[in-house]
Amino acid sequence: MKRIVSLFSGCGGLDLGFKEQGFDVIYACDSDQAAVHCYTKNIDHAIVLRDVTSNEFRSDILAIGHCDVVLGGFPCQGFSKAGPKNEKDTRNNLYSENEELILEVIGKHRRHKKYGDIPNGNPLPIDEIERLSGLSGIGAEIENLLSKGYLKLKDSKYDLKGAMFCSGLFKRPKWNEPSPTVLTNFHNPRYFLHPFQNRPFSLRECARLQGFPDTFLFTEGSHEIDLVSGYRLVGNAVPPSLSRQFASMVRQFFRENEHQRSKLPLIFAKIG
Ligand SMILES: C[S@@+](CC[C@H](N)C(=O)[O-])C[C@H]1O[C@@H](n2cnc3c(N)ncnc32)[C@H](O)[C@@H]1O
Repeated sequence: MKRIVSLFSGCGGLDLGFKEQGFDVIYACDSDQAAVHCYTKNIDHAIVLRDVTSNEFRSDILAIGHCDVVLGGFPCQGFSKAGPKNEKDTRNNLYSENEELILEVIGKHRRHKKYGDIPNGNPLPIDEIERLSGLSGIGAEIENLLSKGYLKLKDSKYDLKGAMFCSGLFKRPKWNEPSPTVLTNFHNPRYFLHPFQNRPFSLRECARLQGFPDTFLFTEGSHEIDLVSGYRLVGNAVPPSLSRQFASMVRQFFRENEHQRSKLPLIFAKIG
C-alpha cells in the first residue's frame, strides 16, 4: 500500500480521493482543531493538531521515515495561480504582461465595495484600471482580453468574465448553470442565496456542490464542530471529485513504474 503524508489536511477533501484509491495515510496535520476533528471522523485517525512552522512538526516529520506521496493543500489565499511555473509552457504567452497586470488589478479590486474614491469597485471603468495599474493607453489590451473571453463589458466597465462576486450582495446562482466557487462564508446570505428559496445554501448543499458524499459528516451527531467551522472546512476543501481523479493518475503512475521502484521520485501533490 502506498504511504501518504498529508500536510494542511483540512477536513480531508484532497485526501478522500487518495483513501478511496487505496492509499494509506501515515501522517496528516492541520493547525485548525475543527479540521482535525472532522478529518478524524471521516478520513483517518492519523491526523494531529500541528502548525507546520513548529518544532513539534519538525520532530514528527523526522520520525516518519519513508513515504510515497506528500499531499500539500496549503493555503492559497495569498496567491491565485497555482502551477509549476514552467517558463517554457506556451500557455504563459496567452496574455501579455500588461494584460496579466490588468487582470490582477481587476481581480484585486473588484471585490471591494469601496476602494479609495471608487464608490463600488466592481466592475471597473477603464480609467480606474489605468490609475490602479499605473498603465496608460490600455485599449488594445482590454480588447484582447475581451476577445479571449477573460473580461466582460458591462455599462462601459470591465469585470472578470464568469466572476460572480460583484458587490457581494445577494447573488442567486442559476439552477441549471455551474455553481460558483464554494467559499468559506457561504453561511452568509449576503453573498449567495439558494437558487429558489430566500436563504443561504445549507452546509450539506455546499458539501454536495464541492462533491462530498452525504456520508461525509461535518457537524452531525457531534458538538465538536460548529456550523460556521463546517462551512469553513467545506469552502477550504479540494473537491473530492477532483482529488479522486488525481489519486487515480498517481496510482496509475506507480503501477506503470513499479519495476523501477528505486528510481521513483517522491510525488509531491499540490492542489490549492
Ligand atoms: C486550502 S486548506 C486545505 C484543504 C484540504 N487540503 C482539503 O482538501 O480539505 C488549507 C489548510 O491549511 C491549514 N493551515 C494554515 N496554516 C497552517 C499552518 N501553519 N500549519 C498547519 N496547517 C495550516 C488551514 O487550517 C487549512 O485547513
